[in-house]
Amino acid sequence: MRILVTGGAGFIGSNFVNATARTRGGVEITVLDAFTYAGSRSSLSAVCDAVKVVEGDITDVALVNELVSGSDVVVHFAAESHNDNSLADPWPFVQTNVIGTYTLLEAVRRYDVRYHHVSTDEVYGDLALDDPTKFTDRTPYNPSSPYSSTKAASDMLVRAWVRSFGVQATLSNCSNNYGPYQHIEKFIPRQITNILLGARPKLYGAGKNVRDWIHVEDHNTAVWRILESGSIGRTYLIGANGELDNQSVVRMILELMGRDPGDFEHVIDRPGHDMRYAIDSSTMRDELGWHPHYTNFREGLQATIDWYRDNRNWWENDKDAVEARYQAQGA
Ligand code: NAD
Ligand code: DAU
Repeated sequence: MRILVTGGAGFIGSNFVNATARTRGGVEITVLDAFTYAGSRSSLSAVCDAVKVVEGDITDVALVNELVSGSDVVVHFAAESHNDNSLADPWPFVQTNVIGTYTLLEAVRRYDVRYHHVSTDEVYGDLALDDPTKFTDRTPYNPSSPYSSTKAASDMLVRAWVRSFGVQATLSNCSNNYGPYQHIEKFIPRQITNILLGARPKLYGAGKNVRDWIHVEDHNTAVWRILESGSIGRTYLIGANGELDNQSVVRMILELMGRDPGDFEHVIDRPGHDMRYAIDSSTMRDELGWHPHYTNFREGLQATIDWYRDNRNWWENDKDAVEARYQAQGA
């Protein structure tokens, strides 16, 4: 199988590529990545001999056509992925998430290539803290931020290309991932690296917002399960029953790093901040027989802390720029 992985130098994509190269000998992997601030060659250093890496943009029609025509499967991870950045400047999100997805869809349509679209639970908007329901594939779309609205738009394009043009596509909407190689602008690595450098964790607002955490390896085993057994046109929700409020996560990180669990600061809240996400992943479990492996969040978090402690050279050079951006936002 020849697989084209867009965004394969980012957080989830690089974990996908590393795991695939490690465990699936017959798969020929090509990565297409623009190497924005969020992409890193060093995330692929363990597999660089086994993987072809192409630096380029998913909106580049000629390049995308060339790579897609030589592939059996496209797994589309590439995106602008950070909500806070989308509030500061939405344009790259429209460009990459909407136009980029459109470009890939036209190519897989032209060359009749199987396509999997990686998306987010944020397309469904948010839930109240006391809402007993969770997101399912029947929940109406109701995105809040420029990021999530462009992801929602891209999902709609995929559905339309399946129905109108018979494109062989599946979709997945996953909850918040954590694990190695996540950019330090994101919540968990930002707090871990703050503590490692002697700074205090920063909690937006009161910290009551809930995220439904899943280890990145579990997200990626689910993507493979969909590639192998999913039904064309279907949307699969991926989650691991990992709901926790942000303040509890910060306290757990501090405790696991041997600090006072109350030693964090509250900073200005994110405008339009979604309150809670929660995924009903029963279709993945009951129909596709997928189950998450990392069900103990505390253990997964400890391993993630150890990874950032042991891989300072992977993140250290980015830290000042990331914190300067946050400081400008008051966060
Ligand atoms: P990331 O920001 O870590 O990585 C994105 C990658 O895409 C980077 O390597 C970047 O260089 C590349 N990229 C950006 N624009 C590009 C372009 N125009 N052309 C080619 N490459 C480009 O993102 P991530 O957290 O790994 O997310 C991957 C996908 O998973 C995204 O589609 C995101 O919406 C989705 N998702 C993420 C999460 C999460 O918790 N991180 C949860 C659910 C879904
Ligand atoms: O739900 C899936 C989504 O999860 C993905 O689609 C996105 O690509 C991914 O970035 C993530 O979005 P969030 O906005 O939930 O993730 P983030 O890491 O930015 O923030 C997680 C929570 O932590 C959120 O409630 C905001 C809060 N936060 C974040 C930062 C960076 C803080 O309290 N302090 C911080 O310093």
